[in-house]
Amino acid sequence: MKHLNFFLNTIKHPKIVILTGAGISAESGISTFRDNKGLWENHTVEEVATPEAFARNPELVYRFYNARRQQLLNDEVAPNPAHIALAKLQRKLQQDFVLITQNVDNLHERGGCKNVIHMHGELLSAKCINSNSAVSTVDDVSSCTKCACCDTPSPMRPDIVWFGETPYHMKAIQTHLQEADVFVSIGTSGNVYPAAGFVQEAQYVGAHCIELNLDPSEGQSNFTECHYGQASTLVPWFVDEICAAI
Ligand code: APR
Repeated sequence: MKHLNFFLNTIKHPKIVILTGAGISAESGISTFRDNKGLWENHTVEEVATPEAFARNPELVYRFYNARRQQLLNDEVAPNPAHIALAKLQRKLQQDFVLITQNVDNLHERGGCKNVIHMHGELLSAKCINSNSAVSTVDDVSSCTKCACCDTPSPMRPDIVWFGETPYHMKAIQTHLQEADVFVSIGTSGNVYPAAGFVQEAQYVGAHCIELNLDPSEGQSNFTECHYGQASTLVPWFVDEICAAI
């Protein structure tokens, strides 16, 4: 990482903003969205992750997310060395470390990271379809699950940002990107906006932009440095490089 080391030598307390996608959890046993044709029970992700899909066939959508929630709860998946390395970097950088994830799993937290910004929601949360109030849940969510926030209890839905909906925490994310000295994108295909555009926003303010991924993403040409391989190898290596340089 010659370029990054040189860049870091010129900054006292670099702010590092990291964006993760499904690729960081792949080696933990969680399927990515667009590999293996992105199919689930012969439905595309788009068929189960939209408000229209929920209106058309809520039981299918509940089943899709309940299966994923159970995968987290049944100890079928665990954080891998990439999640653990990012927690090490957070302990080193403290407030100069920001982690934004598109993932709805809890592997960053289980790997030791705090204050994770879940821009696409969380599997272990459900929200009222009427008030949008969210509550933590470890139980299956179904059409029978009713909220406790409305006078007449309303149905709950997975607390997931579906296609066509606005991601969470966008104001805070924009502020972090404007302050970034280094932007690192890990394990994301760069297909879904607004996350896919973060590299350009960071680049605009002069951040050093790095891609760590298995394959080149859609936005590959916007990065200053790209490294390709498995996240469980690349991310610990990258964290060691940063820790040695600052
Ligand atoms: N290590 C590193 N990268 C990996 C690994 C691995 N072991 N395995 C796969 N990848 C990379 C793939 O090369 C791909 O670029 O992870 C990326 C996964 O891409 P997607 O499946 O498109 O996932 P992601 O980019 O997170 O999707 C974004 O789309 O479906 C919506 O809301 C959903 O948050 C999701 C968003």
